[in-house]
Amino acid sequence: MSRSRATEASTVKKPVSLDRQGKIAGLAVIVMAAGLGKRMRSKQAKVLHPVAGQAMVLYSVGLGLRVAGDRVAVVVGHQADMVRQVIERATSGKSGGFSVAIVEQREQLGTGHAVLQSRPVFGVGKRGAPSGYLILNGDTPLLQEATVRELLRVHQAERATVTILTAVLDDASGYGRVVRAPSAERGVSRIVEDRDANAEEQSIREINVGTYVVDGEFLFSALGKLDPSNAQGEYYLTDIIRLADRAGRRVAAVILDNPDEGLGVNTRRQLAEAEQVVRQQIRDRWLDAGVTMVDPASTWIDATVTIGKDTVLYPNVTLEGATVIGEDCVLRSHTRLTNCMVGNRVEILDHCVLVDSHIEDDAHLGPFVHLRPGVVVRKKAKVGNFVEMKKTDLGEGSKANHLSYLGDTKVGKGVNIGAGTITCNYDGVQKFQTVIGDGVFLGSDTQLVAPVTVGAGAIIAAGTTVTEDVPANALAIARVPQVNRAGWAARRRALATEAQGAHMFPAKAPKKPAKSQSKKRR
Ligand code: UD1
Ligand code: CA
Repeated sequence: MSRSRATEASTVKKPVSLDRQGKIAGLAVIVMAAGLGKRMRSKQAKVLHPVAGQAMVLYSVGLGLRVAGDRVAVVVGHQADMVRQVIERATSGKSGGFSVAIVEQREQLGTGHAVLQSRPVFGVGKRGAPSGYLILNGDTPLLQEATVRELLRVHQAERATVTILTAVLDDASGYGRVVRAPSAERGVSRIVEDRDANAEEQSIREINVGTYVVDGEFLFSALGKLDPSNAQGEYYLTDIIRLADRAGRRVAAVILDNPDEGLGVNTRRQLAEAEQVVRQQIRDRWLDAGVTMVDPASTWIDATVTIGKDTVLYPNVTLEGATVIGEDCVLRSHTRLTNCMVGNRVEILDHCVLVDSHIEDDAHLGPFVHLRPGVVVRKKAKVGNFVEMKKTDLGEGSKANHLSYLGDTKVGKGVNIGAGTITCNYDGVQKFQTVIGDGVFLGSDTQLVAPVTVGAGAIIAAGTTVTEDVPANALAIARVPQVNRAGWAARRRALATEAQGAHMFPAKAPKKPAKSQSKKRR
């Protein structure tokens, strides 16, 4: 997958040793995520911008955790609290109880200065300090674990002090250029930043990806020697390469076979590029895992979503956040699920929006269903067109098939919610609960003025406004008594015809013709 070059060997090194989880012993990871990201022109820190629904920085942090387990430090600075929160939320419980160490870089004085901030975390100079560091930019979401493992392998095999990942690009502008030593054997001699490069250096097409493996004993001593006399007045991490080379140490490089993997996101255009690539990777992963996509290109799946085998996704389905979908489900077009748990054999028809909700096995939803946060649709329940629910538990086998709003409601098993049923859960100040027992039949156009309870087995007559609790097995009916007036409709039509289209239907009841109209008739 990659080529490598190195300088001559000097010291003998231990081979890479993996623990049972495949994590590399003695290795620590440092993720740099303190930068402002000026070129994004955003109010939000660059590393928080999502790629396939996941903050960019979490790609680097996740990669770090997979190769080094518990020794991961993230350097934060710009919007530090928010970046910290995002990382803590994503890693809690997923990193074997060990939370990622967050280090603050108060002033963003450059990538070298950023890495230096992590010194206290690792007990540098003491026994048990890391033997090597993997350093990652927080803005390279396309980087693959296999590439990083290859970088570590080459670092060991070539007995290098520093090993960098590089890529050869047609347009290298914006990136640090890799200056090779005169003889290929000598490997890399330095990296020159875009803004510091002269015309000749600018023509170099090999770029620094921003992924480094550095020996433990070398890293922090070299960082102490950095000097910010460059175009940006910053402490460049990349200058440790020149320092290593000058000290006669070996700097090896691994060149990416697929240069796209090295994409560093500095601008919105690059963010859009990264998004496209990651989306494609996610689709391929689920296609390979046994999910059918009728039109992969229009199917949007966040990095954090899980989908079971033999589930079928129709065009324009969007699956977001922590959504988990079971096996043998069918999701028809233009449906969006955000943070939803969906069981097996669930069918969701077109144009549904489901958020923070739980759908159990064999349920059937749609078309045009809106589930707001806190809904549970139990086994075999049915939710039909133009039904909105919020904080509602719809019991097993219950049906709300047409045009309803159910909010703050607990619905038992086998309940029929008639068309147009509305829970009046809000009095303008507070929200109230509605409870509907097992086997209740709600006739069409029922209004339930909460707080209210309908006992099991009760029947509510169509059009009833339920304001008081209904006992189990009772009939509740609340309607204005009906009056039929014989011939009324025919008389009105006759009058309307006479009015010759001025008013097809007079506003007042047409019992007796009005005076003005009777005059005209004469
Ligand atoms: C950096 C490299 C460049 C490389 C490119 C690859 C340096 C000096 N240059 O340039 O050689 O080609 O990445 O994408 O390292 N950061 C901090 N603190 C700071 C400054 C930056 O934590 O004071 C973080 C940023 O949040 C970001 C990363 O470091 O995650 C890289 O910073 P960025 O400003 O994007 O560096 P580039 O100019 O892209
Ligand atoms: Ca960058």
